[in-house]
Amino acid sequence: MSNSGKRIIIDCDTGIDDALALLLAIQYPDWEILGITAVSGNVPLEHTAPNCIRICTLAGKKIPVYAGAAQPLYRERHTAEMVHGKNGIGGVELPLGYDVEHELALSYLTRIVHANPGDIEIIALGPLTNIAQAVLTDPHFSEQVGHLTIMGGAIHGGNATAAAEFNIYADPEAARIVFNAGIPMTMVGLDVTNRALLDYKIFDRWRNSDNAVVRTAGEILYSFRHFFDGIEMEGIALHDPLAVACVIDPTLITTRDLFIDIETKSPIASGKTVADELRVTGKEPNISAAVGLDLKRFLKLFIEAIEGYSQGVPGSLIRRGRGETKLVF
Ligand code: RIB
Ligand code: CA
Repeated sequence: MSNSGKRIIIDCDTGIDDALALLLAIQYPDWEILGITAVSGNVPLEHTAPNCIRICTLAGKKIPVYAGAAQPLYRERHTAEMVHGKNGIGGVELPLGYDVEHELALSYLTRIVHANPGDIEIIALGPLTNIAQAVLTDPHFSEQVGHLTIMGGAIHGGNATAAAEFNIYADPEAARIVFNAGIPMTMVGLDVTNRALLDYKIFDRWRNSDNAVVRTAGEILYSFRHFFDGIEMEGIALHDPLAVACVIDPTLITTRDLFIDIETKSPIASGKTVADELRVTGKEPNISAAVGLDLKRFLKLFIEAIEGYSQGVPGSLIRRGRGETKLVF
């Protein structure tokens, strides 16, 4: 089942898994990616913004990229070069096919959502700083976003600390604003993304492909390996690609509606997504949180999308006619 005709904005901190998520999103022909907003996260903004352009250039799609927040709302910047490499895509060198937009992400997000109330689906794959700034800046933004799907958080566990997932940990105040803004929201957290493992053999094979996109996807993913050397891992967790796949096909996951708030004060649990599983707060659920995953169908969709680039142009993932879409600017 697909959700055709959607108008998508992707907000990301292009790093390795964001890059693969963009390649997946570009392959899906039944929606229109209106723009990409970059945020500091895995690596600083001076890498994440051009990395979005590099990946679109590689995929042969000129999608406008808007520069967003270079710092969290209030905290010191916390990045993950030791995982994603200094340049954010594992040291892989890729050409820049076009320039970043002059308009800043905050202006773009509020303008497009305001002009298309209820119509825009935002997929956020990094810290929520850009989204929080839009909520703070435009009083109507929250009620006008069609839907927000985030890769972030965890009902149980963490990867930045024992308690917190990286995207939330990097800017907990931004996350708290977004989680409490009343936006219809799906949280694709570590509870499912840590299970979305791509076997090393797959991307090892991709590294030998004669197709530049498939080969580059393999090289970018292979650079991740160093991080797992010495740790018994069956593969690489596809955190951001899973969040994109859940928007392509929501039946890939099962969800629970929960009240979730963000810890911002604790010295040991800052950035924790605190889920009211037993309904003890008496607060109404604000988040649809992913709890189950159809791993087999997700991996099939993801692998077919990436290998679909060897069939030539983007859009080979699912071939369907595309209705005319008219945007209000
Ligand atoms: O915790 C994983 C998330 O943090 C992913 O989005 C990864 O790209 C980093 O942003
Ligand atoms: Ca990310």
